[in-house]
Amino acid sequence: MNTFDFGIVGLGVMGRNLLLNIASNKFAAAGLDLDTEKVNSLQQEANADHKIEATTDVKHFASLIQRPRAIMLLVPAGKPVDSAIQSLLPHLEEGDIIIDGGNTYFTDTDRRFLELAEKGIHFFGMGISGGEKGARFGPSMMPGGDKKAYERLRPIFEAIAAKVDGEPCVEYLGNGSAGNYVKMVHNGIEYGIMQLISEIYDLMKRGYNLDEDTIQKTFEEWNQGDLKSYLIEITGHILKQKDEDGSRLINQISDWAKSKGTGKWTSQNAMDLQVPVPTIDAAVVMRDMSKSKPERIEAAKILTWNANQQDVKTSEAIASLKDTLFFAILITYAQGLAQLKTASKEYNYELNLETVTKIWRGGCIIRADVLEDFRKAFAANADLPNILLNSDIAKKLTDTQAGTRNVIQFAVQKGLPIAGLMNSLAYFDAYRSENLPTNLIQAQRDYFGAHTYERIDAPGVFHTQWND
Ligand code: 6PG
Repeated sequence: MNTFDFGIVGLGVMGRNLLLNIASNKFAAAGLDLDTEKVNSLQQEANADHKIEATTDVKHFASLIQRPRAIMLLVPAGKPVDSAIQSLLPHLEEGDIIIDGGNTYFTDTDRRFLELAEKGIHFFGMGISGGEKGARFGPSMMPGGDKKAYERLRPIFEAIAAKVDGEPCVEYLGNGSAGNYVKMVHNGIEYGIMQLISEIYDLMKRGYNLDEDTIQKTFEEWNQGDLKSYLIEITGHILKQKDEDGSRLINQISDWAKSKGTGKWTSQNAMDLQVPVPTIDAAVVMRDMSKSKPERIEAAKILTWNANQQDVKTSEAIASLKDTLFFAILITYAQGLAQLKTASKEYNYELNLETVTKIWRGGCIIRADVLEDFRKAFAANADLPNILLNSDIAKKLTDTQAGTRNVIQFAVQKGLPIAGLMNSLAYFDAYRSENLPTNLIQAQRDYFGAHTYERIDAPGVFHTQWND
């Protein structure tokens, strides 16, 4: 009894794989799930080297784990997390640690932290990214909150994390719900990049009429250069996959995509913080748009456009598409990282963005070579408000903007939907505008509502009796 190093509640794909990862790193791991089938199948998968015990009995589970206990919850966000905590509490003691490893909304973590602190239980949220393979062989993990509790478990997390240049993709990120917040924004960026890739794919197919082999090989090639990243890599794999009849599987997959909410939360909270993240907003909107298939079928019949025939050489098209995707992906990271900067101040997280970009370099869904450039940018200037202000990043954007503008013009003329790409360019153009036309908006507000306005030539607020 009480000999296991770590416990996991929830033996779904993530929980079970993380538990196997822990056991493969020579830590004894106990698992709890109410579903007997999940418990049995985990027990069967464990090999002789693994010290694993899985059970459906919460009391027995608690008795297996060394005191003070370390228990991670990997259950769906929301009520299931509260229920899991409630079922554990009668079997826990002061000093025990509960870690929420799910995609929990950050304010829930703040609430649970306070509730559990009253009972002497340490609680912290830790976003985990990498999907099922990541969980099994090395995820990126984003812990925040109770630092002492994290420090006690650091050896386990560092052992099971993905490694980049020998450095583990896990590090304490900051106070309170910092871990969940960073994971939420990670997912917002994930939504943005997935949307951008899908728009580029559409442009290749319906815009420049590239054949399926060329499209697939292009993604494979892109993964060898500046665009090297997990999402580009899997796109190459996906486009290669054949269905049972030998045709490409992608063409049989419906064009509406579900979402669990983390992208929407990122957008919603960015609006609360007044941080512009338009590429992420567009990605959320486009998933919603994708769901209205019957309406889109109707609309396609009446909202027509006769696109001009534009002849572009395939090699030129591919080169411009590459620049466009690279440009827009940089802008998406810039938006997410700027959101983290503001959130850190607002919620007192004390985030260090060099650390965040460092642990995103491996294991997680948005891992990409370009993260190392961001890490360097924050290492050079920890107070950088936006990575677009780093001269190396700025150069990459100015070098790729001509291709981006060409592709966007082409898509507009073709009538193809590219909300993610357009919003990325719009963000860039607004951000680099010393003067915006917002003076007119100030004047309009004062005109109809006497909301006052500020002037560029004198301090204070002004109101004018506008001439009707
Ligand atoms: C990860 C993923 C993971 C999950 C997303 C999917 O980092 O490993 O982001 O957390 O796959 O939540 O999100 P949607 O269902 O909202 O697309």
